[in-house]
Amino acid sequence: MSAQGQGESAELQLLSELGGALIQRIVALMRTARTYDVSNMAFQRQQQEFLTVLRRLLDEEDEVTLVAMADYFYVNGVRVKANTALMGPYHSLLADFDRRQTGGLRFLQGVNESEVERFFQLFLAADDAALAPKLPEAVDEASVHNIVPLPAAQLDAEDIARELDEMPKPQRERARARQVYWRAMVGTRRVVLRARSTGRPDLRHAKRVVQPIVDSVMKSEFSLVGLTALKDHDEYTYAHCVNVSVLSVGMGQALGLPRQALADLGVAGLLHDLGKMSVDGDVLRKPGALTAEEWAQMRRHPLEGAVMVARMPGLSQVLIDSMRACLEHHMNYNGTGYPDTTVDWGQATMSRIVAMADCFDAITAHRAYYDRPRTAFEGLKILMGPNRVNFDPAVMWALIRTVGLYPAGTVMQTSSGHVVLAMSPNPADVTRPVCRVLVGPGGVAPAEGEPDVWDPMGPDESVVRVLSPEEHKADTEQLLAA
Ligand SMILES: [Fe+2]
Ligand SMILES: [Fe+2]
Repeated sequence: MSAQGQGESAELQLLSELGGALIQRIVALMRTARTYDVSNMAFQRQQQEFLTVLRRLLDEEDEVTLVAMADYFYVNGVRVKANTALMGPYHSLLADFDRRQTGGLRFLQGVNESEVERFFQLFLAADDAALAPKLPEAVDEASVHNIVPLPAAQLDAEDIARELDEMPKPQRERARARQVYWRAMVGTRRVVLRARSTGRPDLRHAKRVVQPIVDSVMKSEFSLVGLTALKDHDEYTYAHCVNVSVLSVGMGQALGLPRQALADLGVAGLLHDLGKMSVDGDVLRKPGALTAEEWAQMRRHPLEGAVMVARMPGLSQVLIDSMRACLEHHMNYNGTGYPDTTVDWGQATMSRIVAMADCFDAITAHRAYYDRPRTAFEGLKILMGPNRVNFDPAVMWALIRTVGLYPAGTVMQTSSGHVVLAMSPNPADVTRPVCRVLVGPGGVAPAEGEPDVWDPMGPDESVVRVLSPEEHKADTEQLLAA
């Protein structure tokens, strides 16, 4: 990896780590402020700890923007990973932001103790639907100039895109892919929220969300596909919608579909689970088996989604593809899925692609009742095993062309004795992905000067064995996110 590349990944790692610390400090500060007066020692101590972390960030960056988007926090555009220790504070702060209709906080150079005190008093008080919209005004009136709350309603995809563009980040492919992915998440959230309030999705807006995905895949930027391997989401998040869209577009390209069809397919992938809006949240997230009634409700989501799409005026290819993808994505190629149909009904090609992408993403998703999520490699083995009768063989071939035989996140031992992590697929050779070297031959760290990224794995190398997560200590999530 180049020195520039190393510098960039160190910066991203630092942002993610300090971002996590910042979240913890904000939660601790708010907890203390609920009990103690700001003049109390306990508050003062928490405030100092918070400022220490914030100032470390401000030493590195011109300003610090903490954004809550969909299910994640981002610091200056870098996703903050919620590890087990951070999980509690992470979700409690997401809820705190949500209740205050706050999408993010900007911290500017020169922020001081008295601003922190005044800001958090106002922020705590804004836990009231009547006061929340007035928070930015109140903060301004209190002369807090270096902490700026960003209302969730204002935080739209275009604004964030502009902000990211202004960041002096090296324009390497992975950085761009992260931007595309993140923007798609932001855009999806808007599409879903709007559909919730109007009862139908705005297909034009969904197309705008998908466009950068299509551009990226058509330029053969497969880092974007690698990002779908980040698995700290469950099946019901915006990340799942984006992953299904990205994978579908990748598969459509492998099958030689023209650009317009790829764009329509991307929209169909994005909207496939729209009908889950009509399923109770408790049922969606229920750990363990569903009752008969709950299962019946769950099985209605394909039809509910199709009805929502059908409410759009006019008739266009994207509308038909999306409607059918909603309706047919659980039908299975061999007709064994749901909804049941009394007539002989075949899945449309687009729906077969979306169904395959959906299963691949869902099979590796986090579930409360698994000891650990399945790896993408394990998921692929299941799909290619007895389950393969559920899928169109041509579409399964397209999935393998898109994610490779060793999908991103797979840790494997190679013929030369290296242990490497698959980072993104290599469409020229599905057995030789782009890899990061974790350990050199003999179990030692890669030698000085030896490349730590194989872009892609060379023709002399081959995979000898895939390691299960129990067999290695690599934090694959962190490495993939960097
Ligand atoms: Fe579904
Ligand atoms: Fe799904």
